[in-house]
Amino acid sequence: MKFTLATIIAAASAVSAVPVAETNPLALTMMSIRSASPIHFGSVTASGQKFYIGLERPSSYCPTPPVSPKDCPSGNYTSIGWSTYGPYMNVMVPGGQQLYIAPDHSLSYTQAHSASMPAGSITEGFILGPKQENTLRSISHTSGGFLACPAKANEGPWKVFVGTVADADAPSGSAADCLGFSNNGVEFTSERFGAWQY
Ligand SMILES: *[C@@H]1O[C@H](CO)[C@@H](O)[C@H](O)[C@H]1NC(C)=O
Repeated sequence: MKFTLATIIAAASAVSAVPVAETNPLALTMMSIRSASPIHFGSVTASGQKFYIGLERPSSYCPTPPVSPKDCPSGNYTSIGWSTYGPYMNVMVPGGQQLYIAPDHSLSYTQAHSASMPAGSITEGFILGPKQENTLRSISHTSGGFLACPAKANEGPWKVFVGTVADADAPSGSAADCLGFSNNGVEFTSERFGAWQY
């Protein structure tokens, strides 16, 4: 095949016709906002299939070998992707890791290589708001607002729940210790993936 300027221009315009969302899916980190509180401007961080505010870094893992270390994401950030079906963990591991709300209302994600989640888990109902002037996008859920529940009264890390929390499920033993917060998506562009797996 002979490449002429016309075929190159045709190929280039075919590429640019592909929706941006498919070649470069929206990736976000999550930031908590609750003014005058310990969780103001907190990072929502994945650890052990749950999410916390106040952790230094997520639990993340990249298997080397077989993966070459240079192909591993840093794993320093907790990133989610967002498709028309809702949020998912922004990971490389085959099969991915799904985001859901467990029956105790804790925000959760599936283990790598497993789609298993407890009966009664909720995978739908997450809503991503439009990009605001301050670049944030509100993340909400039809079952109610986000809550952060401390390990001990006023002492983090703060475990993330959605909707309501029972005393028995609050890490401190009292749901009265939890703080409501607004959850905000911050575009994550420094790396393609947040981790190989969380
Ligand atoms: C990830 O964290 C490690 C340890 O703190 C640091 O050395 C490295 O530069 C970080 N990488 C990125 C891409 O943030």
